[in-house]
Amino acid sequence: MKYRAVKGTRDLLPPECERFAAAEALAREVFAAHGYGEIRTPILESTELFARSVGETTDIVHKEMYTFPDRKGRSLTLRPENTAGIVRALIEAGVQNLPKPIRVWCAGPQFRYEQPQAGRYREFRQIDVELVGVADPAGDAEILEMLFEFLARLGFQGLRARVNCVPAGKAREAFSAALREYLAPRSGDLGADDVRRVEENPLRLFDSKNPALQEALKNAPRTLDFLDERARRHHQGLLSLLARAGVDFDEDPSLVRGLDYYTLTVFEVTSSALGAQDALLGGGRYDDLFAQLGGPPLPAVGFAIGEDRLLAAAPEDPRRRRAVFVVVPDSGSDVDYALSVARDIRASDPAAVVETDFTAKGVGRGLGRAAQVLEGSSPYPFRAASVHAVLLGLREREGETVTIKNLKTGEQSTFPRRELAERLGGARETRQ
Ligand code: HAM
Repeated sequence: MKYRAVKGTRDLLPPECERFAAAEALAREVFAAHGYGEIRTPILESTELFARSVGETTDIVHKEMYTFPDRKGRSLTLRPENTAGIVRALIEAGVQNLPKPIRVWCAGPQFRYEQPQAGRYREFRQIDVELVGVADPAGDAEILEMLFEFLARLGFQGLRARVNCVPAGKAREAFSAALREYLAPRSGDLGADDVRRVEENPLRLFDSKNPALQEALKNAPRTLDFLDERARRHHQGLLSLLARAGVDFDEDPSLVRGLDYYTLTVFEVTSSALGAQDALLGGGRYDDLFAQLGGPPLPAVGFAIGEDRLLAAAPEDPRRRRAVFVVVPDSGSDVDYALSVARDIRASDPAAVVETDFTAKGVGRGLGRAAQVLEGSSPYPFRAASVHAVLLGLREREGETVTIKNLKTGEQSTFPRRELAERLGGARETRQ
């Protein structure tokens, strides 16, 4: 084959793509019920935006970005995540004049130059949520509760959030110094990347995949011991709100997350239904980012779900079930009649999938197609609640009737076409 999808990218064909769209539709429904509106920001941003926000010393900026000069020599980057772009967009829109809090969400592709493996792609999709203008832990709790409602609606059970609070400002400096001191006698366990991390940003050591270092970090100074009074109160406040909201969580003092903008709360959810790449989602608070990017100081908190992983792990198919009608003209001369019957069925049951078999190679072939849909033996975009073959030959055309066979029950009946609305409308009510 001459042309193939670029390494680490993949095509989403109809059955899979419909599952993605259904998960996004559910996200829209759950998030809208909490006041979150959709935002869409460009896939291309200036490279500096990510260096300033995600952080120069993170793996993402250091070695995973798709960065290139445009025709005028400006350095652009395919977004590796959505938070920085959203913050930039809000600052540009005059965030100081917008009513607070600002609640936004989006779904879209992200790009990271990582080694592809199961669940890890170079182009992947995220569902991202951001809440801007709430400093209180009630904001962190709101997005976590909403997140868990979304996951429950997708059929997930037993998921737990790992939650930590990372020191910011002076407390972070003290924590970094303590980490350096702790690791000084263990320098033999450090790889080249780790040595760079110790010098540039010791918090990033927790991202290291080096097993010797991971072992050494088990007894390292703990983030929670370095929190100032305000951070401690924030963290305790969040934990008690989560307990009251029924969100299951564990404190994880080694969780720092691989992006530099986090202050205070960080969290992740992993799923045992995934392989080695088991992080389903991650998020946290980023109270300094607006100011860092040239905007007014504004507290904010958010998360992003890896949508590819979400669908790989989802226990239930998010697509709603729909009645499927395969309209089958017996011969070429029945096609016209078939098209107008198909129109009538769509008008009678707007949620139905009504497709016409254009082969006009007889009823047998049309029935075969309907049977494939019923059995799921060939890829089909939709999830069938019931499958009907609508058989239209000379007899039906001349008598203005339709013959409908329910493939599941085998029941078949012929009735006047004008009764379609009544009969299908009735069928729809019993399905609901
Ligand atoms: P992140 O942890 O870098 O956070 O990414 C969030 C999720 O995206 C991960 O948990 C994972 O499910 C998915 N993901 C990341 N890389 C890949 C990949 N190469 N292939 C497939 N899935 C992947 C963020 O991006 C932050 N912007 C989250 C956030 C929003 N924090 C505050 N607001």
